[in-house]
Amino acid sequence: MQFNGVVKSKLSGVGTSIFAVMSQLANEQKAINLAQGFPNFMCNKDLISLVNKFMNKGFNQYAPMPGLLSLREQIAIKTEKLYSAVYNPETEITITPGGTLAIYAVIEALVMPGDEVIIIEPCYDSYSPSVRLAGGVAKFARLQFPKFTIDWNEVKKLVTFKTKMIIINTPHNPTGTILTASDMLKLEKIVENSDIVVMSDEVYEHIIFDGVEHQSVCRFPKLAERSVVISSFGKTYHTTGWKMGYFLAPENLTREIRKAYQFMAFAANTPIQHALAEYIKNEDEYLNLPAFYQEKRDYFKKLLKGSKFKLLPCSGSYFQCVGYEKISDLSDVEFAKKITLENKVATIPISVFYHNASDNKVLRLCFAKDNETLEKSAEALTQL
Ligand SMILES: Cc1ncc(COP(=O)(O)O)c(C=O)c1O
Repeated sequence: MQFNGVVKSKLSGVGTSIFAVMSQLANEQKAINLAQGFPNFMCNKDLISLVNKFMNKGFNQYAPMPGLLSLREQIAIKTEKLYSAVYNPETEITITPGGTLAIYAVIEALVMPGDEVIIIEPCYDSYSPSVRLAGGVAKFARLQFPKFTIDWNEVKKLVTFKTKMIIINTPHNPTGTILTASDMLKLEKIVENSDIVVMSDEVYEHIIFDGVEHQSVCRFPKLAERSVVISSFGKTYHTTGWKMGYFLAPENLTREIRKAYQFMAFAANTPIQHALAEYIKNEDEYLNLPAFYQEKRDYFKKLLKGSKFKLLPCSGSYFQCVGYEKISDLSDVEFAKKITLENKVATIPISVFYHNASDNKVLRLCFAKDNETLEKSAEALTQL
């Protein structure tokens, strides 16, 4: 079927996401999929039983628009415990169907046509299209290769009277880097005395390694009062397919964001919210996550030690970045496709996380996989 009228694109130049492309290629080729960021192991069965319990109890109709209060209350308790930050569950915490929708709602609600949003690349692929859909203008800073650190002077130079928002992400997808307290203080200095809102994407808050503490913007009161924090239950509980997340924001920002959000989804999944309101009380689930993923990171690194790939530092998230300069001169997209076809391992080329496809010859490998998958993929990759 074909629509015969004119179809104007709001997102010209945007094609099918590389994640879909690589996952499809992985399926066609029966390749191991280290491309898309999701665990290939089960979530805790107790969590599934809880969802089941609440479905059977009849909690199958719309939840309140901002989310179930009992879940918001538990998030408030957790946030205060972890980051010493107090959020009012009634007015400052909102549950959404996933982190991506929270990001979209925040940008749609706060960014006016012509407003500028500073995005630091490489970055999660939803930021820039969301800004464009809101009529905003993305201004790009870059993490400094090869350490992928932020040059705050570069960020400062991008700030104009039109800057509405700066987006940060820690632990970082795709590079696995984290922001330090010193980064946060530099950001604080840049935005002081301005109307700039910070959106801090912290969906990997519990996947951080080597005993380092996650530096949430919540920990910095002067930043927190102008920030929206994005979180995802999918990353924390190995349930990315459930699409459950939330955002924290001061009351007046929350009010505006909820205005837009209510017309996007209205509310998130009811039985899962009931289940999470109970399950979240089990602190060990997220307190043990750093050790769980650190073991995977270290095992995967060990398996890749004999390969020609250069392993870049990974301090958080479940992504290991690798340079392949010693193996090939191909562009990262071509190289990723080639090894999917020939070596049966699908990865993501880092250039797709830049608006201008900047290519440092680095691939991103997701290590949220069972040991057998890690072993098989490492065996194939070490043959290159
Ligand atoms: C940096 C980052 N932010 C947000 C999200 C979205 O989370 P969700 O799956 O809850 O929409 C992801 C998912 O991959 C991510 O990597």
